[in-house]
This record gives sequence, structure tokens and C-alpha cells, in this order.
Amino acid sequence: MLKGIAPSILAADFARLGEQVATVLAAGARAIHVDVMDGHFVPPITMGDLVVKAIADQVHEAKAQIDVHLMIERPEGQIKAFAKAGADSITVHAEATPHLHYALQAIKAEGCLSGVALNPGTPVEAISAVEADMVLCMTVNPGWGGQAFLEPSIAKLGRIRELVGETKPIQVDGGIGAETAARCAAAGATVFVAGTAVFGAQNPGEAVKTISSAVGR
Ligand code: DX5
Ligand code: ZN
Repeated sequence: MLKGIAPSILAADFARLGEQVATVLAAGARAIHVDVMDGHFVPPITMGDLVVKAIADQVHEAKAQIDVHLMIERPEGQIKAFAKAGADSITVHAEATPHLHYALQAIKAEGCLSGVALNPGTPVEAISAVEADMVLCMTVNPGWGGQAFLEPSIAKLGRIRELVGETKPIQVDGGIGAETAARCAAAGATVFVAGTAVFGAQNPGEAVKTISSAVGR
């Protein structure tokens, strides 16, 4: 089960990606979050399955997981490629496909943990009809790192927790640092994606430890 801090490599120095991943794994991160953007669902284009493949052995040797966040239209067409590259969990956006249930089944069929992500403007009811292994609550609008945490996310987390029950992992993603992570944890979040707060820090390893202790993990 996914839990704790998941550093997002979106904010990492890509010229020394392996080194940066090693630093956060050594600091105790048990998941590496990979943000995939297609230039359609969100304006930027970031990275694809080749990047997952490049870090897969390193992450798995550390007994950690690769958590892929697909911010792409019609994600169902890409699931096999990311699973093959080494993804352990794959999250798709409820807004990105008319076939959300099918997409989640396809993720499970590849042996991965399935996640459903909700944009800030999407009501929590979007997840009520589908079976996902986890829920990702966007706490900024998807597309860019370094944005400010959206406060209404706290109340939304409470509604999600009520809807999915006590045990399902709930991820928060966007504007997460020690302070916002602690408040999200109190509202029901169990997985904390952090890009800028980790890789933008002077010492990314220390940043992982600081956020971890803020959420009591
Ligand atoms: C945003 C991505 C996030 C991003 C978070 O669309 O899904 O994972 O990396 O970045 P920070 O932590 O800088 O808000
Ligand atoms: Zn993300």
C-alpha cells in the first residue's frame, strides 16, 4: 500500500535524475511520483514511459514504488506501456476519459495499483461509481509545479474520506510542504506528493524528513 511522502521528480534536476532519486530514497521516501503531461489534458509536455524505465531498477532495489500520475487525455491507451516500464501504481484523471471504469480495470489487469485523480473543480461524486485502489485529490490545478495550495482542498478531503471509507489511500498533490501536509493528514490524506518542497530545497533529503515528521510518518 502506498503511504507517506512521494517526491515528485517534476521538480528534480533532470541532468542528475538518478542522484536526486537516490537522495530522497535514502531519506526514507517509499514512492517516487512521476508526472506525465501530454500537452492536451494540460498545456505542458513532460515525460513518458522512458523516464519510468530509466529509474525503475533503482527505485525497486530500494524497495520503493513508482507512482505514475497520468495527466493525459484518454489514458487507457498508455497503461500497458507504463506498466511495462515499471510503474507500480497508475493514476488517471476522472476528467480525462469517458471510460474511467474501464481505465481502472485495465490498470489492475496489468498488476498495478489503480488511482483516480480529481481536479479541484471536480465534485467528489465523480469517484462514487468506480472502484479505484486509491484517490488522488489535486490540491492545485494540474499542469505545473510550484503553485499555491488551494484551501478548499481540506474540506474536500474530508468528503472524499467519508465516501471511500477509512482504509483507502488518499493522495494529495500540489503545494504540499510540511505545513499543508500536516493539515491534509488531519483531514484524511495518507500519501503526500511534494515536488518543489523537496527538490527545490537546499537539502532534498532533509526536506523529505521534515515533511515526514510533520505528518507523523
Ligand atoms: C502538478 C503535478 C504535481 C507537481 C506538484 O500538476 O501533478 O505532482 O509535481 O508540484 P509542487 O509540489 O511543486 O506543487
Ligand atoms: Zn502529480
